[in-house]
Amino acid sequence: MAKPRHDHSHRMADPPDQHHVRGHFATRVGFILAAVGSAVGLGNIWKFPYVMGENGGAAFLLVYLGCILLVGLPVLLAEFVIGRAGETSAVGSYRKLARGPWWLNGLLGVAAGFFILSFYSAVAGWVLRYFVNGTVSGFAAYAGDASAERFVGLISSAGEPIVYQFLVMAMTAGILFFGIEKGIERAARFLMPLLFLILLLLLVRSLTLPGAMEGLAFMFQPDFGKLSWKSVLEALGHSFFTLSIGMGVMITYASYVDRDVHLGKTAGTVATLDTGIALLAGMVIFPAVFAFGMEPGTGPALMFITLPQVFAQMPLGHVVGAAFFFLVFIAALTSTISILEPVVTWLVDDMDLTRWVASAVAGGLIFVVGIPATLSVSEGGLLHGFTLPFLGGPVTIFDFLDNVSSKFMLPIGGLVACLFIVFAWGRKNAMAEVTGTDGDNASPFAKLWFWTVATVAPAGIIVILVAAVIELASK
Ligand code: TRP
Repeated sequence: MAKPRHDHSHRMADPPDQHHVRGHFATRVGFILAAVGSAVGLGNIWKFPYVMGENGGAAFLLVYLGCILLVGLPVLLAEFVIGRAGETSAVGSYRKLARGPWWLNGLLGVAAGFFILSFYSAVAGWVLRYFVNGTVSGFAAYAGDASAERFVGLISSAGEPIVYQFLVMAMTAGILFFGIEKGIERAARFLMPLLFLILLLLLVRSLTLPGAMEGLAFMFQPDFGKLSWKSVLEALGHSFFTLSIGMGVMITYASYVDRDVHLGKTAGTVATLDTGIALLAGMVIFPAVFAFGMEPGTGPALMFITLPQVFAQMPLGHVVGAAFFFLVFIAALTSTISILEPVVTWLVDDMDLTRWVASAVAGGLIFVVGIPATLSVSEGGLLHGFTLPFLGGPVTIFDFLDNVSSKFMLPIGGLVACLFIVFAWGRKNAMAEVTGTDGDNASPFAKLWFWTVATVAPAGIIVILVAAVIELASK
C-alpha cells in the first residue's frame, strides 16, 4: 500500500475526472434512499419491536429517541462529513484528512463489515427462505408447535441455510458489481418505495384486525417499571446498529455524494425515517400477535416462530405472510449491500482491484466466513459445540461475531470518528464541511453538532464500552 503524504489542513482539489472514475450517486434522493436502505434492516423490523416490547414500551422509546438524538445522529453526521471531505474509502479518507494512525479506524470498519455480514447474511438467508417457502406453500404448516419445530429444523440443518446465505451474498455482490449509480442507487430507488408501500398495506391489514388495539397498547403504554439500566444500554447500543454507524458505511456512502447535498438535513432524514419505519414495523407486528392471542415477549423468536403461527390462522395469511417476509428481505438486502460496500470500496480505492473482482472476492470471503457462523447457531447445528473464548466465557461462533462487532467494534469505530474530528481534523474543517461555508460563519446547528461530537456523544459511547466490559467480566 503506497502511503501518500497527507494534506493536514484541508482537502485538496479533486482531479477533474475523479467522480467519473469513482462513480457517484446521481441524485440527492438516490443517496438518501441508499442511506435509509442501509439503516432500515433486520434491526428495525426484527429487533426493535421486541426490544421495545420487553423494555416498557413507550418508556423505552423515550430513552431510545434520546440516544438517537444525542449520540446516533451526531455520529451519523460525523461519518457523512468525513466521507464527503475524504472522497475515498474510509481508510483513505482518514489518511487524507489528517496525519497519524487514524486510518486504522477505517481498517477496523472493514473488519467489522466482515464480522457483521457473516452473521447478518445468515439471518437474511432465513428470511429469504421464509419468503420463498411462504410464497410457494403458505403458512398453514406453521400452526401451533409446528412453527418452532420447523424453525429449529431449518437452522439446525447443514444445507438449506447455507444455500440461502449464498443467495443473499450473491445478490449483494451482484448489485455492488454494478457500482454506485447503477447498482446501489438503482436498487435503493426501486426497493425502498416498494418497502414503504408493502409496510403501509400490512399496517392497514394489521390495524383492522379485531383486537388490534391491545397490541398498540402493549407497544406504546409507558411502563417505567420495566425500564432498567440495561434498557438504557440496549437503547444506546441499538442506536448504533440501526443507523449503520461505527464501521464506515456512512463514510463510504458519503464519499460518493455531490457537494451540494446538505449533509445535516440528510442525517436528520435518515434518522427520522429509520425510527419511523421501526415504529411502523412494530405497529404491524404487535396488533397481529395480540389479535391471535399469541405471546408478544418471545424475543428473537417473534419473527421466525410467532409470526408464522399468526399467518397460519389469519384470513389471507398466505399473501400477508409472503408480503411480510418480502418486506423484511428488502430491508435486509439494502443493508447487506451497505455492509459489503465499504469492504469493496477499500479493495478498489486502496488495493487497486477492479470493482467486479473486489465484489466477488469480498462477497465470496464473507460467505465462507459465514458458513461456520451459520452452522454454530442452533443446538443441533454441526458446529454448535465449537466455541470461542470471549472475555466472559465461551460462546458460539455466531454469538462471538455478533458480540464482538456490535458491542465493541461499532462503538469504538464511532468513538474514534468523534475523537478524530475533535482532535485531528479540527473544528474549522469539520464545520466548513457541514455548512458549506468556512467554519467561522457556521450555523447554530453546526455549532451544536460539533459540541455534541466533542462531549455527549463520546461520553455516551464510553459508557456503552465500559458497560460491555463489565457485563462480560461478570458472566
Ligand atoms: N442498520 C441495519 C439494520 O438495522 C444493519 C446495518 C447495515 C449495519 N449496515 C450496517 C449495522 C453497518 C452496523 C454497521 O439492520
